[in-house]
Amino acid sequence: MSVEALSGKVFLVVTGASRGIGRQIALTFGSLLEKGSHMLLLARDLNALCEVKKSIPPIVNVDAVRMDLSKATKTDLEEAIVKTLKGTTREAFDRVVVMHNVGSLNQKLLNELTDLNDWRTYYDLNFFVPAVLNAVVMNLFDSKTNTKKVIINLTSFTAIQAFIGTGYYCTVKVAREMYFKVFASENPDVDVLSYGPGAVDTDMFTFLCENVLDPVHKEHLRELWKNKIVISPEQSINHLVEVLKAHKYKPAEHVDYYDPL
Ligand SMILES: NC(=O)c1ccc[n+]([C@@H]2O[C@H](COP(=O)([O-])OP(=O)(O)OC[C@H]3O[C@@H](n4cnc5c(N)ncnc54)[C@H](OP(=O)(O)O)[C@@H]3O)[C@@H](O)[C@H]2O)c1
Repeated sequence: MSVEALSGKVFLVVTGASRGIGRQIALTFGSLLEKGSHMLLLARDLNALCEVKKSIPPIVNVDAVRMDLSKATKTDLEEAIVKTLKGTTREAFDRVVVMHNVGSLNQKLLNELTDLNDWRTYYDLNFFVPAVLNAVVMNLFDSKTNTKKVIINLTSFTAIQAFIGTGYYCTVKVAREMYFKVFASENPDVDVLSYGPGAVDTDMFTFLCENVLDPVHKEHLRELWKNKIVISPEQSINHLVEVLKAHKYKPAEHVDYYDPL
């Protein structure tokens, strides 16, 4: 079964593509794209992005762009996309796919979070800039271009379950899921999914294991390692491909790695 969500000439944007899950999305999706597709990979570490680019088949045009997504403006995002089009018209693409993967995590108790600037910086990277990027893509590839659209939000179990010390992260994941539910209602022609990738062995997961404040969560993480439930980025993204192939999800539904296909 082919992956309809990645078929035809695709314009693919991946945020946080330099390592972890985003890197794997770029590699796996990049290997499935048809000739003439374009990819825009965004993160701060340009060297790492260029390494990812080297592993993507040459039939796909890849732009690796260094961008701090906690500071990016509408203009920065628009310019990066227009530059990646490289003389091709927007109408030339059958599909635009946006992978809202970028995310950050820290561990602090809510009563310690009294600095508005810390809240703003966190929400800029994890919520506001993804929301602006989403709108920028929708406006650039508007109905005149006839391009199909697929939007995938990387979500988490923490959008459902509260954990001590994870206030920034839990609230932003809920906000992102609700943003995409409203977005899907306003744009019924767009294929929207919130994908929970599971417990994935990345820098973020290592940070959590080393710094987790919640004793219940700490025990849960220990069990995940002990029972070999922690998966590789490749396992998680291969599963995402199967979710896209089966396409049983409702608009903007939270589908988790551990859910049956
Ligand atoms: N790992 C898990 O178990 C897990 C579970 C559930 C959900 N998730 C979600 O999956 C997504 C990816 O997680 P991950 O584990 O792969 O995280 P990660 O290992 O920490 O990687 C984060 C990515 O985001 C980029 N990034 C961070 N800050 C940035 C900034 N200011 N500007 C631009 N790029 C930035 C990083 O690149 P640079 O440092 O080069 O900028 C990197 O490519 C996140 O949304 C996360 O919440 C992960």
